[in-house]
Amino acid sequence: MAEYLVGIDVGTTGTKAVLVDPSGRVAARATHEYPLHTPRPGWAEQDPADWWRASVSAIRDVLSASGASPDEVRGIGLSGQQHGSVFLDGNGNVLRDALLWCDQRTAAQCDWIHETVGSDKVVEETLNPVLTGFQAPKIVWLKDNEPEIYEQLRMILLPKDYVRYRLTGEFATEVSDAAGTSLLNVGKRQWSEVMLKGLGLTTDMLPTVHESPVASAEICETAARETGLRAGMPVAGGGGDNACSAVGNGVIEEGIVQVSVGTSGTVFSPMNEPKMDAKLRVHTFCHAVPGQWHAMGVMLMAGGSLRWFRDELCGEEKAAAEQRGVDPYEVIIEMAGGAPIGSEGLVFLPYLTGERTPHADPNARGVFMGLGLRHTKAHMARAIMEGVCYGLRDSLRILREMALPIEEVRNTGGGARSPFWRQMQSDVFKTPLVAMQIDEGAAFGAALLAGVAGGVWPDIPAACAATVRTKEPVKPNRKASAIYNKYHPTYRSLYRSLKRHFARVARIVEEVG
Ligand code: XUL
Repeated sequence: MAEYLVGIDVGTTGTKAVLVDPSGRVAARATHEYPLHTPRPGWAEQDPADWWRASVSAIRDVLSASGASPDEVRGIGLSGQQHGSVFLDGNGNVLRDALLWCDQRTAAQCDWIHETVGSDKVVEETLNPVLTGFQAPKIVWLKDNEPEIYEQLRMILLPKDYVRYRLTGEFATEVSDAAGTSLLNVGKRQWSEVMLKGLGLTTDMLPTVHESPVASAEICETAARETGLRAGMPVAGGGGDNACSAVGNGVIEEGIVQVSVGTSGTVFSPMNEPKMDAKLRVHTFCHAVPGQWHAMGVMLMAGGSLRWFRDELCGEEKAAAEQRGVDPYEVIIEMAGGAPIGSEGLVFLPYLTGERTPHADPNARGVFMGLGLRHTKAHMARAIMEGVCYGLRDSLRILREMALPIEEVRNTGGGARSPFWRQMQSDVFKTPLVAMQIDEGAAFGAALLAGVAGGVWPDIPAACAATVRTKEPVKPNRKASAIYNKYHPTYRSLYRSLKRHFARVARIVEEVG
């Protein structure tokens, strides 16, 4: 009998499922998309029912495309966008749309938590400052702004854990995602009594915390009927999407670093101890590997910036792509390749929904600096891609300042699939970049965690040894690196020059709409 594992990634644009065999071969993949709502500037919400519907469809698709029988599936692992808040009432019903990781409405609530608990205490417990995208300030926002809903609140879940609840009927999470709530004692890998008390919460409002590669619950009868999976099958703890990608790419030991360009852009370094950046510019979270942590720099809109450009400004390119039967990004990236290195002085700041690393600022916004008459859409596309690379380079620099070893950098996400963008990253970082033979993202890592929970492998290193293969690295081009080096200081100082203007403009937008 064949054996398979299912990995699910509840992403920002859609939910992806993969069906993987124990050699790491991906027998089937499927993605179902859903909308992101921005009811006000700086807000970002999704309907958890959409995540569930997309998960069911994606699971059904991979089972039917591969012909796998439910008995052949040994386990399922869940991964997802981090930090989102799913608010449930006492009957397990969703009370309102979830606030997402890139939502920026909670600046006042972050300040309130720092004042109430004490900033030093917050950092001592959670190893991070409370940032606007994290989960805890969203709970306080609900209390402050929608008290009638807050009164009904009985359970708070992260996005993938809502899907777990629908699959199993259980309220459970795991350490890598729980670390991004501001409610976990990240060093001890358990809920922080100090943070809960400070916020007036009790542990019965939060899911049980597991380690990532253990069985957290089993598929229930109702979900078995809906998805086609076997009732009683184990559901692994899983992980936040960045930790799961890291597992899927074998980024499970100090010295191997991951740079991911998806909607967000992240730089992820495993750590044997929970170290922090002295200026708290990168996050310190638990890794999905038991006994490990990770430092992570997060750019909120990396691929998300190019998606905005595609959707708002690239109607012609989309039409051309449809005619050629290719993805619109292929046409846009080809166009970007027509502009010279450095985009003839056009510099883009990718802060479309504010930023976290290195400038934690909910008011920051995107900027094209240096537009001239010679500039075309090709320059703009290229400048967006370059701006993303400059920002990620800043995160790598912080990891170096923390004295974390960087022996190999593995590249993943949509941005790694484009050879042009991957070469650009290598040139801007001045570092060789290793791509993955299987680059299925977080869903693949979630499937490996399912394999460990289901007994296919004894632990995560064994799962990675059996399935993860790298490609030859891309090497930086010296001439290109030298040009990017000239522009990078301008990119770095532009934020500081504009900071007070971002704040002023945010106040005006708030006032006049
Ligand atoms: C990480 C973060 C993003 C989301 C994207 O802290 O907010 O990378 O996880 O899905």
